[in-house]
Parts: sequence; C-alpha cells; structure tokens
Amino acid sequence: MEPKPNAEENPVVPPPDSRIFRRFPVPIIFLLLLGLSIVLIYRAAAPITPFAGGKWNLTDVVPAGDPEDVVNLDNEETKLTWILKDAAMEDKTVILTTLNSAWASVNSIIDIFLESFYIGNGTRALLDHLVIIAFDKKAYLRCMAIHHRCFALATEGVDFSGEKNFMSDGYLKMMWRRIDFLRLVLEMGYSFIFTDADIVWFRNPLTRFFPDGDFQIACDQFNGNSYDRNNRPNGGFNYVKSNNRSIEFYKFWYSAREKHPGYHDQDVLNMIKFDPFINQIGLNMRFLDTAFFGGLCQPSRDFNVVCTMHANCCIGRNRKIADLKLMLDDWRRYMALPPASKKSRQSSWSVPRNCSLSPLPN
Ligand SMILES: *[C@@H]1O[C@H](CO)[C@@H](O)[C@H](O)[C@H]1NC(C)=O
Ligand SMILES: *[C@@H]1O[C@H](CO)[C@@H](O)[C@H](O)[C@H]1NC(C)=O
Ligand SMILES: *[C@@H]1O[C@H](CO)[C@@H](O)[C@H](O)[C@H]1NC(C)=O
Repeated sequence: MEPKPNAEENPVVPPPDSRIFRRFPVPIIFLLLLGLSIVLIYRAAAPITPFAGGKWNLTDVVPAGDPEDVVNLDNEETKLTWILKDAAMEDKTVILTTLNSAWASVNSIIDIFLESFYIGNGTRALLDHLVIIAFDKKAYLRCMAIHHRCFALATEGVDFSGEKNFMSDGYLKMMWRRIDFLRLVLEMGYSFIFTDADIVWFRNPLTRFFPDGDFQIACDQFNGNSYDRNNRPNGGFNYVKSNNRSIEFYKFWYSAREKHPGYHDQDVLNMIKFDPFINQIGLNMRFLDTAFFGGLCQPSRDFNVVCTMHANCCIGRNRKIADLKLMLDDWRRYMALPPASKKSRQSSWSVPRNCSLSPLPN
C-alpha cells in the first residue's frame, strides 16, 4: 500500500512520477532559460564582479527590478534576492542545499533527496521553500529540469564538477564558498535550514528546533546535552536564525579558515567552538539530537520521531546511493504499517549496509 500522507497539502506540487520529466511548457521560456544558462556558463568560467574577489558583499545589491527581465543577470545578487523572497516561509526561513555534477546525475543523490520529501510525512510542501545552489553547469541544468528554485554559484578558478575527493583543494574551496554564501543569506535577512543532499527528510524538522537557538547543528555523535560543545557537529545539517549574532559568527568562522589552512569548515568549527568570541557575541549554539536528526554514524532509533537521516560516516558516492535507497525502503515499509503497529513494533534500519569509512577499493 502506498502511503498518501500529504495528498491534501499542496495540490500544485506534481506527483513524484512526473517531476523528473517536467519541462517548461512554453518554448519561449525555454529559450530564455537557455540564454540564461549560457550567461551562467560563461560566468562560471569567468566570474565577474562582485564575485571576482571570492567574497560577496551587500553594497552591490540593487532593488529588485522587473520580474520578466530574466535574461538580464548583470547582478546575480538580484537573482538571489528574487529566489529567496519567492522561496521564503512567512518567517523568512528558506531551505538550502548545494549540488555539484557528481551528485546531479539521473538516479543519483539529488533524486533520492527530492523523493524523500514526497514520501515523508508533511515534507512535500517544504519543497516550495527549497533552493538548490548549483556549483557547476551540469548541476544547474539538472536542477532546472527537476526543481523550480535553482541558483548558480560560481567560484573563481575552481572546477567543481566531478566527485571531489574529501579534503582535495577543490573540495575545500567549495565548502568554504558555501560558508561565505550562507553568511550572505543571513545578511539578506533570511534564516535557513541548510541540508546536504545526502540527507533524506521524513518529517518537518521545524518543530524540533530550539526556539532560543541562533545556530543549531546536527551531530555525528550526540552525547545527550544540546548545549555541550563537546558534541561532534556535522556541518551537513543546520538551522541558523538571521540576526546580528549569527552574522558575526559566520564572519568569524569564515575568517578562521585563514588561521587554519587546509582544514574544512567542519574541522574549523570544532577548533573555534570553544572560542570566547562566541560567548562575547552572545551566540546561542545548540546541538541537535540524533534521535530526530540521525545518520549512519549514529542512527535515529525511533521511526516515530525521526526527521532526517544523513548518509554520513560513508566514503563513496555509490555506497551512499545504495544506503540512501535502503533508508527510503525502510521508511516506506514503516509508513505502510497500520498505526497501531507503527507505535508498538520497533522498526529498525537496514543501514549501514554498503556505507563505511574504509577507503574505496581501486
Ligand atoms: C503524519 O502527520 C500527521 C499530521 O501531522 C499526523 O497526524 C500523523 O500521526 C503523522 N504520521 C506519522 C507516521 O508520523
Ligand atoms: C543589528 O544591530 C544593529 C545595531 O546594533 C541594529 O540596528 C540592527 O537592528 C540589528 N539587526 C538585527 C538583524 O538584529
Ligand atoms: C552493496 O552491498 C550489497 C550487499 O553486500 C552488494 O551486493 C552491492 O553490490 C553493494 N553495492 C555497492 C554500490 O557497493
């Protein structure tokens, strides 16, 4: 039996079968988009100001102009302004994920990610608030084919296509570019839930966040105390409120990369999380329970409360894909149970099966 939890929630969202094949109905729009992607391809190859410095700033934001003016992308921040405004929930929260070509192929990670929103309970309507940030041309074009909110984020001098080896130079640049971009989103007044695309969503996480937390982050291992900075955070999932404290924190985090060259944002977070500066700015940092925000490092134990599951503690894209698919199967099996057995029977994950931290065989 197919679960139909949210059939009534959002009639405009197409059913999962059709979404991959969705195309823009009007040829003219298609041509406009083609023109737009050529502009973006060009820009990806040779970024122009305000991106050339690698650091964005807000002084260049111009007021949003005519919405018909799709091709005029003189200023990508203008486009970002539009997309965020369009995607935001009432309280100006958006859901953000990043995509590069390695995760963008058909039947790859991005498809599993989107599918989870369709089979999750109360998650389908959240797709309206999701913006996919594409790091390269292939990812951008794939995004345009399967989702309606895509933004191309070019990075100078780096080709982000292909599977990045963990800790390679390109991978590091991509991770740090993301932190700087998220700082910009906060400065524009938007709070965000950032999610890696190798995280499947089964329930709306918003009710599980702490009302007083400025920066809330999921963990590889959670020790039971949401205040304890000894928890092992995982940068793949976090909820950040836009305010002066969070903006200061993102600036601090981004600038700390210079003091710790060769480390990625998550390592640097572990290095700076005890820094007195964080208490000085009054940032309320909280760590999220793996019971709600689980992963392969420490799976959520209870199907009745799980919101998300992350294919963390996993090296290798194909291993990730295999285990993420198993997670979807486990969830479908759980959802098909009659309500009484959902509560009484202890469902369990069939993962990790393929995933591990052992290196890939050559
Ligand atoms: C799904 O969501 C509905 C509405 O919030 C709730 O009543 C129901 O218990 C949820 N089902 C599961 C399995 O979480
Ligand atoms: C940040 O601080 C400035 C000056 O202290 C204040 O005017 C502004 O409203 C604050 N912004 C936010 C988002 O809290
Ligand atoms: C995953 O594990 C199963 C069972 O061990 C194996 O048959 C399959 O080939 C593996 N797939 C990948 C992508 O490693």
